[in-house]
Amino acid sequence: MSKQEEKKLFIQTLGCQMNDTDSQHIIAELKEHKNYSTTDNMEEADLIIINTCSVREKPVSKLFSEIGQFNVKKKENAKIGVCGCTASHLGKDIMKRAPYVDFVLGARNISKIKDVVDKKGAVEIDIDYDDSTYQFAQSGHNLYKTSVNISIGCDKKCTFCIVPATRGDEISIPTEMIVEQVKKDVAKGAKEVTLLGQNVNSYGKRFSDKREKTSFTKLLQEVSKIEGLERIRFTSPHPLHMDDEFIEEFAKNPKISKCIHMPLQSGSTSILKAMKRGYSKEGFIKRAKKIREMVPDVRITTDIIVAFPGETEEDFQDTIDVIKEVKFDQIFNFKYSPRPNTEALELKDLEIPDDIGSKRLIDVIELHKEHQSELMDLNIGKTVTVLFDSLKPNGEVSGFTDNYCQVFVKGSDELLGKLVDVKITDATRTALKGDVVN
Ligand code: 5AD
Ligand code: SF4
Repeated sequence: MSKQEEKKLFIQTLGCQMNDTDSQHIIAELKEHKNYSTTDNMEEADLIIINTCSVREKPVSKLFSEIGQFNVKKKENAKIGVCGCTASHLGKDIMKRAPYVDFVLGARNISKIKDVVDKKGAVEIDIDYDDSTYQFAQSGHNLYKTSVNISIGCDKKCTFCIVPATRGDEISIPTEMIVEQVKKDVAKGAKEVTLLGQNVNSYGKRFSDKREKTSFTKLLQEVSKIEGLERIRFTSPHPLHMDDEFIEEFAKNPKISKCIHMPLQSGSTSILKAMKRGYSKEGFIKRAKKIREMVPDVRITTDIIVAFPGETEEDFQDTIDVIKEVKFDQIFNFKYSPRPNTEALELKDLEIPDDIGSKRLIDVIELHKEHQSELMDLNIGKTVTVLFDSLKPNGEVSGFTDNYCQVFVKGSDELLGKLVDVKITDATRTALKGDVVN
């Protein structure tokens, strides 16, 4: 096909922020090398890609119903590709169940997109593949915010988690490549970067060349030197690797957003052991309290899994205890979902009945709602600094505080990309409202 004949790509992304970045990479590679541009209308697309997640069972079953629909409605001769974590773990079986799928590309093989796209029947799911030094084509991003991967894979073996099986071992992306990428995005207008990895604070332990080890704290210091960059965020860190050096950097570096994700998973020391998380209930509480002491106004978010196999009522109460002690600003809660290629599958006999899991989930949600209202109300009357990034259809402008709380004000696009003081007048459980202070 000649350069003039532009083709249309429809891409649907499920799952985590790394999947979003992978999709950005796919779009950029196909634009640069294969003359594709994106469309929101699946029915006019020449290529349909679904970038999948397999962390829990739900998105996997959704995948097959969704590609079935795509196959019925798609333009004649349009191709369908399945990428991401489900592609990694199901591989060729996807084509057995859905023979109309043209190619399958695993989560650790995204840089091969331009090779597989025209290869009917291609299946690239090698979890040892190393694209940590691959220079992806430049992707578009929200004008003021960008995300940059800092590592691929994960070396942890949390017993509930499928990620090490779909994304392989951890390899850090060279610091100079990360810095270069952030500088390019800042030159295009970005004020904020989110550094992404499955376990960001183990950064620097292994590179694909045999260079010296480094640390996440050092990476943060390097990235914060970039002129014009106002705010640095990162996800996900592991509570186990939040050492004193890291906490000090987090506390004192003015460019680092004072919002930290501390995935608890469970509050019970014995369940944490069964999950192979490497910390205890007390260790977690101590670290969270230290962060709260050292960083006034910090917001702490978390992930919690209820009904892990063998979780007794007492274990669950330990989780409730930690929630009460730490008072998380946001909780992402999940009911345990058995996944293939995970150690926890061996605990099948100890699985918790679904109704008990649902009840525990509701208990977590209800308690968290109380904390959220209490914590958000504390903002009323305060003056906070907001980085505005989007214009809403109702004439409001939205942005985030330094501790990453969403704020809405009446205003115009003149606020976009600017750090502005706002006096908070109102709070819901999830966002704040206020007036710009002139
Ligand atoms: N079941 C339920 N939740 C899970 N998570 C990961 N694996 C599972 C599973 N098998 C959750 C964890 C993780 C988040 C991204 O997804 O809480 O931190
Ligand atoms: Fe999964 Fe644990 Fe790695 Fe996070 S740290 S991706 S939960 S194995």
